[in-house]
Amino acid sequence: MERLAPLYAQHIHTLRQRTDRLLVQHQCPGLVIDSGQALPIFLDDLDYPFKVNPHFKHWVPLVDTPHCFLIVKPGEKPTLLFYRPVDFWHKVPPVPNAFWTEQVELVVYERLEQLAELIPAGYSYIGAHPERAAALSVGETNPKGLIDALHFGRSIKSDYEIACLREANRLATLGHVAAKQAFLAGESEFAIQQAYLSASLHGENDVPYGNIVALNEHAAILHYTQLGRRAPAQSRSFLIDAGAGFHGYAADITRTYAFEPNGGFAELVAAMDQQQQAIKAQIRPGIRYTELHLQMHQRVAELLLQFRLAQGSVEALIASGITQAFFPHGLGHPIGLQVHDVAGFMDDESGTHVAPPAGVTLRCTRMLEAGMVLTIEPGLYVIDSLLKALPASAQAMLLPEQIDWLRPYGGIRIEDGVVVLAEGIDDLTRCQRWDD
Ligand code: GLY
Ligand code: MN
Ligand code: MN
Repeated sequence: MERLAPLYAQHIHTLRQRTDRLLVQHQCPGLVIDSGQALPIFLDDLDYPFKVNPHFKHWVPLVDTPHCFLIVKPGEKPTLLFYRPVDFWHKVPPVPNAFWTEQVELVVYERLEQLAELIPAGYSYIGAHPERAAALSVGETNPKGLIDALHFGRSIKSDYEIACLREANRLATLGHVAAKQAFLAGESEFAIQQAYLSASLHGENDVPYGNIVALNEHAAILHYTQLGRRAPAQSRSFLIDAGAGFHGYAADITRTYAFEPNGGFAELVAAMDQQQQAIKAQIRPGIRYTELHLQMHQRVAELLLQFRLAQGSVEALIASGITQAFFPHGLGHPIGLQVHDVAGFMDDESGTHVAPPAGVTLRCTRMLEAGMVLTIEPGLYVIDSLLKALPASAQAMLLPEQIDWLRPYGGIRIEDGVVVLAEGIDDLTRCQRWDD
């Protein structure tokens, strides 16, 4: 994607300016950002899949190369120490030559022992391996004040980052379309997952989080990551929460489908879809994410009343904890280099924490600003353990017959990723082609 070159150049320019300012402010001579290394499996000679340090991939789109270091010094082009060992067991990565390489000083090194000479003394180390930092003569490791400020800065995405997030959504959409077809063909969860991975061009270790591929009652298990090898006798419903990555940026998309296009469950899915779109229409700079979440509880209460799952007033369904039992997770979260991106609770660069109101489950309490990227993912599930735990007065408001009807379908979640604009949103998920 050659068109990324100017966007990336601008991204690095902004990142360098921000980092230079923060280095001065935090009296830090420079940064050594470690790409990381694969973690060994206990008592084994195998490693867990390598996951790159998000701070590293913020600067360079290298997601599968351990032992690389980015050295950032104020006023200078960043230096990339690129590890290229002599190794006949593994594939040795080629020396990078891409749209981004002009923006860094590339130093290829062969042996880890060279690091002692290559890494400047006294710079702060940012990475997951403090033992490695200790062996080098670096300064502080992951200084909290600086990390908080860097995290806060990640909240507003550059145009390059939004292009990467849009492409991640495109790849994920290819998988979602294939998965829906596999569901309608009556395939097992395992077969649907294979269809997803193949169409989205991802391996199981490349997706940004473990896909949730849930048929029927399994849709009510929020983090269902088992995969049934056998197709159920009857497929009624399908919830798929599956993402994709592009240059280290994540998509996180959920869709729910009814097998029967004209039944009550299809109507409930359509009604939730409308509510999800309606809450997205509320997004604008200057509104707190918490407010959107609380509004969503009202909408869930309306759905419960409309579909005769509970009775009473919207206010009573919320106050009694009934909406929380049907919708027990947050409305969504920031997304970017990480699926649950950093700084969801920060009010400023110094890391001031804004907690959710008591009893509210949320990963984000931010005041929204243009350039933030968030997910919007309301849900409604039959989770018996939560319904049973409701006080008797709340249980009296439930309508068991209709809950019994819904239970075999599990539940619904609909999730899109959106960019906050000065006015309205750029919907990274719905702007894709969903109709193939
Ligand atoms: N897939 C994880 C989430 O939706 O937050
Ligand atoms: Mn999500
Ligand atoms: Mn998700």
